[in-house]
Amino acid sequence: MADKVDFTINSNMHSAFLREVDRLQKAVETVDLSDSALAAGLARRYVFFSHTLHAHHEGEDTFLWPLALAKATPQEAVILNAMAAEHEALATALTGLDSQFAQLSADSDVARMSGGLDRLRAILTGHCAHEERDAVPVVQKYVTREDLKAFMAFTREQPDSTLVLAWVCDGATPAQIDSTWAMLPGFVRVFVKPMSTRKYAKFTAECGV
Ligand SMILES: [Fe+2]
Ligand SMILES: [Fe+2]
Repeated sequence: MADKVDFTINSNMHSAFLREVDRLQKAVETVDLSDSALAAGLARRYVFFSHTLHAHHEGEDTFLWPLALAKATPQEAVILNAMAAEHEALATALTGLDSQFAQLSADSDVARMSGGLDRLRAILTGHCAHEERDAVPVVQKYVTREDLKAFMAFTREQPDSTLVLAWVCDGATPAQIDSTWAMLPGFVRVFVKPMSTRKYAKFTAECGV
């Protein structure tokens, strides 16, 4: 297909989600949670992660899979329907962590939270690999860039969207960093890249993680 959609940013976001699970787990195990400012900073960082992951899945479930499902073969439909089911499993894994991070304090059960992040990582790793290997080629077969305008608008409208691209680059490989910024038209990149980088640096400094 001449205008096959490039899903590199999707893969780059998956890598960023998995790095963020590692970052949160290291933080929850090492930050002095009796310091209320440090605990609040870590909780804020977690909220960004949880919201961004939920929004990523909501966007795929609302705008991506249905577009491809309308044209998919029965075998391809099985793959696309599995994506929504895996997103539900991830939402369930996030629910417990959402409430634990919302009540972060010296009394938090760190071992339980770390175990929850281990489970989240395992489900997320499997889902991201399944999506990239099996679902993305189905979407690329049927969906054009023009079809994705609503999906892109939904992504841009998220409250933390200005942080996301710089966050995706945090800890990424040079190739991932290049391909992440390359998704923006040059004239947009000129002002979005420094703005997002500056906002994300402020966010990380304020969170302390
Ligand atoms: Fe995805
Ligand atoms: Fe997904």
